[in-house]
Amino acid sequence: MEPRRALDSGQARTLADDGFCTLEAFVEDHELALMREVFDRLFATRTGWDEGNQFDLAGTDDGGAPRLPQILKPSAYAPELLDLTAMAAAREITRDYFQSDALLEMDEHMILKPPHGGSQTPWHQDQAYHDPTVNERSINFWIPLDDTDVANGCMQYVPGSNHNDVLPHHSIGNDPRVHGLEVDGAEAYAATGVPCPLMAGGCVLHLPTTLHYAGPNLTARPRRAYIMIMAVPGERRASPVNNTWMREKQTARSARARRAGS
Ligand code: NI
Repeated sequence: MEPRRALDSGQARTLADDGFCTLEAFVEDHELALMREVFDRLFATRTGWDEGNQFDLAGTDDGGAPRLPQILKPSAYAPELLDLTAMAAAREITRDYFQSDALLEMDEHMILKPPHGGSQTPWHQDQAYHDPTVNERSINFWIPLDDTDVANGCMQYVPGSNHNDVLPHHSIGNDPRVHGLEVDGAEAYAATGVPCPLMAGGCVLHLPTTLHYAGPNLTARPRRAYIMIMAVPGERRASPVNNTWMREKQTARSARARRAGS
């Protein structure tokens, strides 16, 4: 299948209305192979650990086996990612969607759900992690490097949840040592979640306030995902989000980052 490098008007409307939309084919085969090679290398070598850029999203991250390992800024360690045409396409789609020529910012990460019990990613809005003074204008491009379904933790979304403001969140297990967040009252959202099974190299797009979740990995295969976030300048909020859940964080990840001076 020829990779899709733009949203048609129906897809753009779905993204605006529902807060997410799926592109069945987004990454060319040779770029998918490169993403997998980088992914496996960076996790196998624990790249970024010392400076807090590799950590466990779902545990206390104190040196035991990680339940949901994540790498921030993989292109800082593997600059070949910056040359991907998939990255250029994500940029183009974002400019187009927000009708903005303003300078784009890019963020990215890689998440591994290990086989046989890689942790769930609880229901959350990405913006709950971010600057409380700004309403972001960004698109999250979630690219599975393995075929995903409910059994190994595909993405799930609450349609229309993107029309909410930032909702109250808490650290996973109410433990401020854990990096990951969960929206308060998550059980209420679980019933309306829509799973988005997707083949490797597809892409699902979502907005900063779209509620999303990924289940545990119950299979014998890893579930690897590469995520790019493209942003045009956000809008300053009239009043900041009261994000106590971020202010109380005390993660081993940020302690390592402070020690490394990053
Ligand atoms: Ni997220």
